[in-house]
Amino acid sequence: MSDLLQHQIEYYRARAPEYDEWFYRLGRYDRGAAHTRQWEAEAQIVRDQLHSQAGFDHILELAPGTGIWTEQLVRIGARLTALDASPEMIAINRAKLASDRVDYQLADLFAWQPQRQYDMIFFGFWLSHVPAAKLDAFLRTVQAALKPGGRLFIVDSLEPDLANSRTQTENLAGERQQRVLKDGRRYEIVKIYYGQTELADTLRHHGFDIEVRATENFFLYADGRRAS
Ligand SMILES: C[S@@+](CC[C@H](N)C(=O)[O-])C[C@H]1O[C@@H](n2cnc3c(N)ncnc32)[C@H](O)[C@@H]1O
Repeated sequence: MSDLLQHQIEYYRARAPEYDEWFYRLGRYDRGAAHTRQWEAEAQIVRDQLHSQAGFDHILELAPGTGIWTEQLVRIGARLTALDASPEMIAINRAKLASDRVDYQLADLFAWQPQRQYDMIFFGFWLSHVPAAKLDAFLRTVQAALKPGGRLFIVDSLEPDLANSRTQTENLAGERQQRVLKDGRRYEIVKIYYGQTELADTLRHHGFDIEVRATENFFLYADGRRAS
């Protein structure tokens, strides 16, 4: 397991310069204008939900990557702390945001222990990379890092994004997935697809009053609060 989680970090370190092509449907991820319009429309539904509340003092973003969601979070929070295990991801995020309101910290989320509580916690496309055996401990840590009544927002993949064979994503046994970078390097990582009800039950069990919704094709998202 520790090897797999180390490979997962190495994969994202190597993928950092090409990561945004996935979200913006470019290059290997370009499936035509209609697909991109639909993807963008569904992403906008998630962004609208995220922006439905604002005025947070201090937001914690876990695994922020290149900043696709960080740039949304700075619009609803005064200060952000962003924790990621990849220096390459942090460098791209920092250059993109160019904000002295974001404090970046290099951290392995499987070893991380919060030193304080935040008004909101956000993670995008991270929960699906947490192995099932580590999910309880991870969500307990998230709960401890959030003030009672604080907001939790999660967005993740709804369905396997396997339709485009050029991305060479392949499901392996159990929760493993094989990913191939543009230059052909192969990595095994963890990827778990949650159902809406399953995720809602799991989060409620961990002390969150939360609603889990899905867009038509692509995104699963959860918005709620830590129960007091
Ligand atoms: C799928 S990306 C998500 C990035 C961003 N949240 C987004 O939605 O675009 C996963 C992120 O998790 C980070 N990561 C992987 N393993 C990690 C670990 N053990 N601790 C902290 N971050 C990790 C990667 O560096 C990468 O930035």
